Amino acid sequence: MKPSILVCRRVFPDILERLGTHFEVEANQADDEWSRDELIARLHGKDGAFITSTNPIDATVLERCPTLRAIATMSVGYNNVDLAACTARGVTFSNAPGVLTETTADFGFALLLAAARRVTESEHYLRRGDWTKWTIDLFAGSDVHGATLGVLGMGRIGQGVARRGALGFGMKVIYHNRSRLDEAIESELGARYVSREELLREADHLVIVVPYSAASHHLVGAAELALMKPTATLVNIARGGIVDDVALAAALRDGRIAAAGLDVFEDEPSVHPDLLALKNVVLTPHIASASVPTRRAMAELAALNLVCMLDPAAGRSPPTLLNPEALAHRL
Ligand code: DGY
Repeated sequence: MKPSILVCRRVFPDILERLGTHFEVEANQADDEWSRDELIARLHGKDGAFITSTNPIDATVLERCPTLRAIATMSVGYNNVDLAACTARGVTFSNAPGVLTETTADFGFALLLAAARRVTESEHYLRRGDWTKWTIDLFAGSDVHGATLGVLGMGRIGQGVARRGALGFGMKVIYHNRSRLDEAIESELGARYVSREELLREADHLVIVVPYSAASHHLVGAAELALMKPTATLVNIARGGIVDDVALAAALRDGRIAAAGLDVFEDEPSVHPDLLALKNVVLTPHIASASVPTRRAMAELAALNLVCMLDPAAGRSPPTLLNPEALAHRL
């Protein structure tokens, strides 16, 4: 008998079809957002799950679904999954790194440019019919080329942002990360390692690309925003909760920083009303990785991981498994 899996959100039909050649599949092509109890009810008795960053997998879910052996997410971030609990219960877990790096870095730059050069704010003005004459300072923003780019979190995506800044826009790149990069990578990116405080003080444009965890919750709050230049731009393409949205809205409102571009929010899909009320913030609905080829690549990688984790006939190990040690915990 084929192993059974639950595909928790709508996916490309051909990928679903491919999964069907290996598994008994329960799909969610209606793309319903299940409550935790409904997720548990549907996962019950399944061997595997194909999830996204919107599906919470915690210790209780795992405990109540004891047949689960493998979970694959099509996202790179997995703060919605209790990895330690997966490992302890012998559930292998994979994410989808690499395939979205360049697309997400592109979007970081799109937000940076849009916020610094006031693209959406000026477009709304034009569409409202308010544009009646040329003015010397009409929507004058700040320059991106030649400015100092600060990157907070220098993993793959952070490096992609840094490379675009250095090579495409002649920016001076500074960064802060848990650990310093190899000298060879630093010199390829033209990036200088600085303390978090120096990063905040020196950056003309700050791009946040750290993973979310308890340690990075409100990593940028009122105190950190107070260190930034009043002309600075802040971009968050990582996860909501890393930036304190209320403190950021206050800083933007009071002119303590100039502008922001946000793809992620503390309570998404709800966006704090203080942010919605501001003109100097560009807001997008968590779409940094959303090019068609990249979303396909993410889903394909997750499907491949799931097949390799659950179908011995695949004959290879899952390409981006995060906890191979989980196998030792299987009964
Ligand atoms: C990711 O892959 O983590 C993106 O944020 C989409 O969820």
